This record gives sequence, structure tokens and C-alpha cells, in this order.
Amino acid sequence: MTVLVETIKEVREYVRNWRKEGKKVGFVPTMGAFHAGHLSLMAQARKDCGAVIVSIFVNPLQFAAGEDYDRYPRQLPRDLKMAEAEKADIVFSPSVAEMYPKGFATHVIQDKNGLPSKLCGQFRPDHFTGVMTVVAKLFNIVRPDLAYFGQKDYQQFLIIRRMATDLNMDVETRLMPTVREDDGLAMSSRNIYLGPKQRKDATGLHRALKRAEEMVNSGESSAATVVGEIRRVINRVKGARIDYIAIVNAETLEPVKEIKGKTLVALAVRIGKARLIDNVLV
Ligand code: PAF
Repeated sequence: MTVLVETIKEVREYVRNWRKEGKKVGFVPTMGAFHAGHLSLMAQARKDCGAVIVSIFVNPLQFAAGEDYDRYPRQLPRDLKMAEAEKADIVFSPSVAEMYPKGFATHVIQDKNGLPSKLCGQFRPDHFTGVMTVVAKLFNIVRPDLAYFGQKDYQQFLIIRRMATDLNMDVETRLMPTVREDDGLAMSSRNIYLGPKQRKDATGLHRALKRAEEMVNSGESSAATVVGEIRRVINRVKGARIDYIAIVNAETLEPVKEIKGKTLVALAVRIGKARLIDNVLV
């Protein structure tokens, strides 16, 4: 039975009791509107840990004015059933006032030219400060042993891992593979913004990344050549607007000219009302 908890005080009581029982605590932070990607994180947490807590909180701090905060899908009853099927112990779904009471004033930032300034940070300048702030709060509330994140949000994962290390948070962060639809589209709660035609078009992102992977696997090492090919594939998708196509060092997110060592091929593309991101590690 998955219990819905809405207050920080109650979460802390549950976690305190789990610790007394010697249980490892696994944590899956989410904004809800679950898909198979979220469920895979919960399943892994269930495998690794004696207690599993999933948070559902659409964090206003990580949305800029004019972004999709208001229309972000909110489907708590459905999500609860899905968390229950994954045997999560608790779903923590706080209100905005519970997380950011009157007078809230502290934000977590990283160096000006650090990880949050790269890739998506160029288009969403305050986004990662909002993410770090809420995840720091959630880590302090839950104090998990392990926390799980999906590779689709690879930059987010690196930033959170950096934050946890720098601020001596006693949590191990785990990166799990992106879960895809049968046609390759990375699962995302934002895919519901796509109309049927756009949904078809969106498979172009995965096609482009597959093509990039093939090129690298057959020996292509020029980042410019691979970016050129990705751009060519995406440009064939009518109505797709590219935010970025980037080939970067997978640890620093600095652009590379030559593909060698662990490298991230990442892109962000707008189709209709949806801003889609995806990546592959090569
Ligand atoms: O990836 C997400 O769903 C969110 O950015 C997170 C990590 C739950 C923070 O709000």
C-alpha cells in the first residue's frame, strides 16, 4: 500500500522509523505525470532499497515566466496508482506553501561558467538554480541513501551530482537509461503537448541521434561533421526549431572538436508547444 504524504514532518517520521528498522532509503524525485521512465526508476529503487519514497512536486522555481508551469500535467490519482504498482512506500506530494513558505529566500547556485551555464542553461538561464534548490530541499527532507535520475536529463544529473558532492550531501546519485517509446521517442511528461502529426515528427530526434551513434561507431571523429548530419536529419522535420545540437565532454559539458573518450551528443528541439530534449553517450 503506497501512502500519500503531504507534509515534511510526516515524511521525516516515516524516514526516522525506516532508519530504526535498518532500511536503506531509495528516493525518486519527480514532477509527476508518470510514464515508464519514472516507473523504471522506482523499480530500480525497489530492487536496491528497503524503503522507497517518490516525490511529486511541480516546482515553480524551475520554470521561467512564459514556460509551461501552469499547464504542466498534474494527475495525482493516476500517479498514485502507478506508484502503488511499483510498490513505492510513500508518495510525497507537498503543496507549494509547504516547500516555499512565506519568507523563503535561499537558492542554490553553481559557478557562473559551470555546468548549469551549458546546453539547456543557455536557453533556460535560471532553470537549474530552481532544480538544485528543490532537490537540495528534498534531499534534506528525505535524507535518502540513493537517489535515481533518468539519462534524458543528463545535464540535470551531472549538476545534482556536483551539488551533492560539493555540499557533502550523504546521498549516492544513480543515472538510469532513458526509456523510449517503440519508435524511439524518449519518454517525457511533455510529450502530451504533441499533436498526432507532431508526435510522429518528434521521432526525428531519435533518428538523428541514432545516425550520430552510427557515424561515431564507424569511425567518424569530427564533431562538426556529426553535428552537420544531425542538423540535416532534424531540418527535414517540418516545424522543428533547433535550440541546440551539441557534442560535449560527458563530464564537463565543454564542446569537443574531436570525439574521443566519453562524449555526450545532446539536442534540444521545439516542436509545436513542446521543447524536447534527448541525448546519447558515445
Ligand atoms: O526531472 C525532474 O522531474 C525535476 O527537474 C526534478 C528533479 C524532480 C526537480 O524538480
